[in-house]
Amino acid sequence: MSEYTVAVLGATGLVGQRLIDILEERNFPVKTLKPLASKRSVGSTVKFHGQDVPVEEALPEAFEGVDIVLASAGGAISEKLAPEAVKRGAVVIDNTSHFRLHSDVPLVVAGVNDDALKNHQGIIANPNCSTAQLMQGLKDRHEAAGLTRVIVSTYQSVSGAGKEAMDELKDCTSHALSQPDCAPSRNDIFTRPIGFNLIPHIDSFVTEGDEEGYTKEETKLINETKKILALPDLPVTATAVRVPVMVGHSEAVTVEFAKPLSPKEASAVLASTPDVVVSQELTDYPTPADAAGKDPVYVGRIRKDTSNPETGLNLWVVADNLRIGAALNAVRIAEALVKENLIQRQPATA
Ligand SMILES: NC(=O)c1ccc[n+]([C@@H]2O[C@H](COP(=O)([O-])OP(=O)(O)OC[C@H]3O[C@@H](n4cnc5c(N)ncnc54)[C@H](OP(=O)(O)O)[C@@H]3O)[C@@H](O)[C@H]2O)c1
Repeated sequence: MSEYTVAVLGATGLVGQRLIDILEERNFPVKTLKPLASKRSVGSTVKFHGQDVPVEEALPEAFEGVDIVLASAGGAISEKLAPEAVKRGAVVIDNTSHFRLHSDVPLVVAGVNDDALKNHQGIIANPNCSTAQLMQGLKDRHEAAGLTRVIVSTYQSVSGAGKEAMDELKDCTSHALSQPDCAPSRNDIFTRPIGFNLIPHIDSFVTEGDEEGYTKEETKLINETKKILALPDLPVTATAVRVPVMVGHSEAVTVEFAKPLSPKEASAVLASTPDVVVSQELTDYPTPADAAGKDPVYVGRIRKDTSNPETGLNLWVVADNLRIGAALNAVRIAEALVKENLIQRQPATA
């Protein structure tokens, strides 16, 4: 089997560390690992298969000889460096939001729309963490009964905002516990204190057009869902909320179909979807603590939407945002590229 030189851009971050762990766990055929980060991290190392691998500065020249780049250093860095890597012959799997809605960039959830990989031009985008977990099983239910509307409310953990956000939750919580009135403090990363609180504001607000008043996190979920499912006219709406949970995003989802789909039928469809675990008992619902560190998407509380009993369903979806929502999906995309012999850039067919 061929082996590849793999660069992890953002190797010292939360997603980058998971990427390295998952490459190792899944025994991805890595010939050489190149961990890349900012200048600040030069001198540090990452562990890979028991070796300490030095972190290099993420400069364009660092991509010479690289076959695959797994990028998670933020949108501005991907905007600048992904084309540099592609120019040098690499395929980039990008975890940031920068390229997701570009028409020539496939937006892929492995196992859901792998066909989109065939037309890649060197860059493949990984969706937002809350979109990725929603997609598992949604396509199968669309095929079973025809999706007509999706309504999502998210409960997103602080790790979705990076390693400093996890520190902020710890500080804010311990500060609050030490105060007589339990008042949380510190909000450097979040717009309000996150300890003992929740914040209906992730990413910036859209201030004009039809989406005015939504946050960009919400519009990402809406527009990425339509692109991945190739249903540009599907009505989707979302409210995204940050909650004081370290790892694991949860979603309350209402789905409407063209044809009736009972909770039992939906449960059977989901149970046959790879990588989805469906609760068998009412009280066996998943929580973020159950999902953290694990690969599947967990679904529970599947029930009729009593305001639309014929064709509406409510459900609860939980997953590890750092794994299925980012690093695991990126590595699965790399595996699919290897399997389909798509590591070399393909000419556009559209
Ligand atoms: N967290 C999630 O659940 C999640 C899910 C999906 C997508 N994403 C996306 O993945 C990206 C990273 O998220 P994260 O949670 O891993 O963030 P993070 O923990 O804050 O890590 C950021 C990484 O980017 C590197 N970096 C920052 N500035 C850089 C620069 N100028 N040049 C090169 N590298 C630089 C950092 O290196 P230093 O350590 O040297 O600063 C670090 O390795 C973001 O775009 C995020 O939206 C995150």
